[in-house]
Amino acid sequence: MTESLSDQDLKHILNCQFGEWYKLFKRDTPKARVLDCPEDFRRWLLADGMVLPDNGELSDDGSDRSDSDDDSDAGFTQASAIPQEFDSLVKETIRSLDGEVAPKLNWSAPRDAVWISPTNDMRCINANDVYMLIKSSDYCTFDLTKSLGNKGPPKLTLVLREWFDIHRSLEFRCFVKDGELIGVCQRDLNFYDFLAPLRTKIQDILTEFSTKLVDKFPDSSFVFDAYIPKSYNRAWLIDINPWLDRTDTLLFDWEELRSWDKPFELRLIGKLDSTRDFGSKPHTANYVPHDLVDMPRENVEELVDKLRESYRDQQKE
Ligand SMILES: Nc1ncnc2c1ncn2[C@@H]1O[C@H](COP(=O)(O)OP(=O)(O)OP(=O)(O)O)[C@@H](O)[C@H]1O
Ligand SMILES: [Mg+2]
Repeated sequence: MTESLSDQDLKHILNCQFGEWYKLFKRDTPKARVLDCPEDFRRWLLADGMVLPDNGELSDDGSDRSDSDDDSDAGFTQASAIPQEFDSLVKETIRSLDGEVAPKLNWSAPRDAVWISPTNDMRCINANDVYMLIKSSDYCTFDLTKSLGNKGPPKLTLVLREWFDIHRSLEFRCFVKDGELIGVCQRDLNFYDFLAPLRTKIQDILTEFSTKLVDKFPDSSFVFDAYIPKSYNRAWLIDINPWLDRTDTLLFDWEELRSWDKPFELRLIGKLDSTRDFGSKPHTANYVPHDLVDMPRENVEELVDKLRESYRDQQKE
């Protein structure tokens, strides 16, 4: 069913697009580039099949692969082509970001699609890596089709962020309600023993950082993700998410956040927590397409191996 959004929610969701908040907080965000996507790229993302530009180069009409008998045998259907100009821009942008990027669309990164990547993460070293991850992701498809409910679709952007080796333990989800930081929790729900002694430091850094964001961000309630590097002297902005049900509250829940009347709280995973519900691998429910869920395990593994193999072959060509 298509979600019906209020005008206020719609405005807030639009403000939370990477390309919007990045303009305000460029100096506090790791280096990134935001590319406007042509309509044909959206069409390619939504089309059946996964026909990537050949050899990293795209033929004029993209027909050389999809017209061949081999492709129909392999179950590919005709997919529209990625415009050559856009493909070149993506390649050029990856080069300008030191050759390794973490991609996302307006709001979502393809965290649920890393199973298809040979390195099992979101690191992309060429344009085809980017296309393949984004196209395989249900989270990114949500951006394309459902992000604005009945007011959609959005003006699509592709965000390429310069890759850096992030310590997942030092990523925090931070809840700002009516201009005030009310709660912070770990983003990666595993137990890290070194975090507890850093409580005060983490709180101080994130509280100060939140005031900078509150000053400039147009909405007074929002959820931001921050990364504190091991020097523990600052925070980097990773994302701003809507103060809406669609944002995962991790160690909090929406009911308590909406009616919050307590002092600030920093929630960390305790030693015993990680042996209970937390500490599992995230997004595993979204790792493979729904069609594959009922397949016998051996068939799924075989299929994934084949996909990886064919992907590597394409890279070598
Ligand atoms: N430049 C980067 N280099 C390497 N990894 C990155 C980079 N930027 C983000 N990441 C990793 O990617 C993860 C997901 O990114 P991001 O928070 O933008 O995704 P998202 O789709 O908005 O997630 P959510 O749905 O939880 O809001 C981050 O938690 C971080 O671990
Ligand atoms: Mg986010």
